[in-house]
Amino acid sequence: MAEPKKLFIKTYGCQMNVYDSERMAEALGSQGYVETQTPDDADMILLNTCHIREKAAEKVYSELGRFKGLKAEKPDLKIGVAGCVAQAEGAEIMRRQPMVDLVVGPQSYHRLPELEAKARGGEKALDTDFPEEDKFEHLKSRPKAARGPTAFLTVQEGCDKFCAFCVVPYTRGAEVSRPVDRVVREAQDLVERGVREITLLGQNVNAYHGAGPDGTDWSLARLIWELDKVDGLERIRFTTSHPNDMDDDLIEAHGTCAKLMPYLHLPVQAGSDKILKRMNRAHTAESYIRLIERIRAARPDILISGDFIVGFPEETEEDFQATMDLVEEVNYGYAYSFKYSTRPGTPAAERAQVPEDEKNDRLQRLQALLTTQQRAAQDAMVGKTVGILFEREGRLPGQMVGKSDHLHAVHVADCPAPAGTLAQVRIISSGANSLAGELLG
Ligand code: 5AD
Ligand code: SF4
Repeated sequence: MAEPKKLFIKTYGCQMNVYDSERMAEALGSQGYVETQTPDDADMILLNTCHIREKAAEKVYSELGRFKGLKAEKPDLKIGVAGCVAQAEGAEIMRRQPMVDLVVGPQSYHRLPELEAKARGGEKALDTDFPEEDKFEHLKSRPKAARGPTAFLTVQEGCDKFCAFCVVPYTRGAEVSRPVDRVVREAQDLVERGVREITLLGQNVNAYHGAGPDGTDWSLARLIWELDKVDGLERIRFTTSHPNDMDDDLIEAHGTCAKLMPYLHLPVQAGSDKILKRMNRAHTAESYIRLIERIRAARPDILISGDFIVGFPEETEEDFQATMDLVEEVNYGYAYSFKYSTRPGTPAAERAQVPEDEKNDRLQRLQALLTTQQRAAQDAMVGKTVGILFEREGRLPGQMVGKSDHLHAVHVADCPAPAGTLAQVRIISSGANSLAGELLG
């Protein structure tokens, strides 16, 4: 039998890219590839790129430059660029960096085997189409390979919201939802392979409206209730959501669906109505705060996480203060905050930019506040008994590491429970980025 070829994938950006990288590895598995953890012995290197903020493309070019030596030593080595930079830059990547053999956009990963064969044959392979066929159906995973206890499952892709700063509607295209039965089948398959927790992914996942078995479009809440019936699946999460798509059923599910975890990533981006309007967010600070209140009424211990942008064009100090006020009011358990980054082709790129030093200053102040809140949320767990799904062994002998229902990392010393076990753990202390607990029962 021929030696398997080795594939090295480097993944940048969001969880959807992590999911996509797994699917690409599986698609190339059918071409005789096995994954390797280093580029040095690879027959193919794939960069799965992200375009959400500036310099992403530059990072890709400099990363590619680092593979020059490898390619010189090993002329058979094939180099590919996938993901959102591939979608945005297309053939330009091969013009600027001729050693790239293959460029593939996120909607064409199911065509990777053909593209790989073309590249192997010495041709340049490029595909950044938005094809009609269902790529997920062509990307079905290899049967029954064992998996860890947690997995991502993409149920929706693309975005129709067109926030004025964001490239996603251009790189990932319009919103598309996968049919309910296919999502459920994939979930069942994951569970058979050892998965206990599934995070449903979508750029705008709560706008999910997949075809249901009854011929009508089902909401995300309905999909979650269907997944709730999957035996052996213990935990369900979803990300990322838009405030305007948080419907009543989904809010209610947070209170009534035991498998749906008490953690919600619900980005607001800014706290000033003027800025929210210019961002084309179609909600106000007030409506967001009222929404959070309703979610907390349904599930009082839910941990809210958010995304923030500081220094959006024309943001004044007063506007920024409104963001700080909103953060004070909501009280976040987790948060991601960014300086506004100009994305060519998006509406905000044309507007008056905030000076870099002001952006830096605002980011620092916002992050100080968010860090305090995050710490407080983590420290508040001490003394509580929480559900933990153990994911892997820790660094110390006998130690296991898992995630709590609220997504905090938790270490347990002298833990006999193997990965994949769900257990009750009493939290005994709170460290820099994780909690320590002891196993009960
Ligand atoms: N600049 C800064 N942050 C951005 N995000 C999206 N586009 C930009 C941009 N141009 C952030 C938003 C989004 C997260 C995924 O990335 O906060 O929610
Ligand atoms: Fe981008 Fe999210 Fe806005 Fe869609 S909803 S445009 S993905 S920030």
